[in-house]
Amino acid sequence: MAATAYVNGSYRPLRDASVNIEDRGFQFGDGIYEVLYVHNNRLADAQLHLARLTRSLGEIELNLTLTPAALLVIIREVLRRNRVSTGLVYMQVTRGAARRDHPFPAVPVRPSLVITARTRPAPPRDIAAWTGAAITLPDDRWGRCDIKSTNLLPNVLAKQKAKLAGAYEAILYDEQGYVTEGASSNVWIVDATGTLRTRPLGQDILPGCTRAAVLAQLRDSDFPFAQTQFTLEDLRGAREIFLTGATSFVKPITRLDGISIGNGHPGPAATLLLDRYLRHIGAA
Ligand code: PDD
Repeated sequence: MAATAYVNGSYRPLRDASVNIEDRGFQFGDGIYEVLYVHNNRLADAQLHLARLTRSLGEIELNLTLTPAALLVIIREVLRRNRVSTGLVYMQVTRGAARRDHPFPAVPVRPSLVITARTRPAPPRDIAAWTGAAITLPDDRWGRCDIKSTNLLPNVLAKQKAKLAGAYEAILYDEQGYVTEGASSNVWIVDATGTLRTRPLGQDILPGCTRAAVLAQLRDSDFPFAQTQFTLEDLRGAREIFLTGATSFVKPITRLDGISIGNGHPGPAATLLLDRYLRHIGAA
């Protein structure tokens, strides 16, 4: 069965689906995106992703007339046509196609909307098989990382460095030496004193939907927890490091820059939170 994409109002075979070469997403990265996981036809945290999409669009003054409810109908149709019941949905909205000129088009053009889906399984039930390595790199992104923009060049370069180092993620740190987030995930630690920590929201990190869902799962656990910044040094000395994200779920990092973290195995916080998160999305 040929994969199908939704492109600006129609469903096309993926291999023929295309956008205009003057699309502002292509030329300027002038767009917003979302990635959602779906498990057994149940979209994980769909309301959070759609709310964040609406917020991101607002922050870049991009007016999409389709409502979140209408977007959900299209997402469902893309999933149905691709026979994806468990996998990932990708959606991207750009400021549309117009003669190349940096300011917004004087006469507004129709935003471009692309939605695709592909099968991808849930993480293995054995958390040991869901661990990864990370490297650390300076965060050289722009000042509005809270907007889920398609401008991902620094993230792409960081992720490529991680891949070349045999690692899953690049964990980024700011000029003061505080960890911001991963190139495509939020970062959490259990610090040397046993406190679970993740950076508070602000313009320097993406407000992760998985982060929010995991925070909600934490409410009735006895882990000491604080939304506080932590340094690279705290990261290196952590008992546990784990990532959250739509493609990472809750993913333990057991090696950092080639050195073992904690006892080198997934710790109790990541184990509990992966289990709770998988239950939350109906995958356990
Ligand atoms: N990335 N931080 C960054 C920089 C991200 O790109 C992502 C997600 C996250 C986690 O957000 P969420 O929990 O809502 O997925 C944090 C997606 C998966 C991607 O770019 O593929």
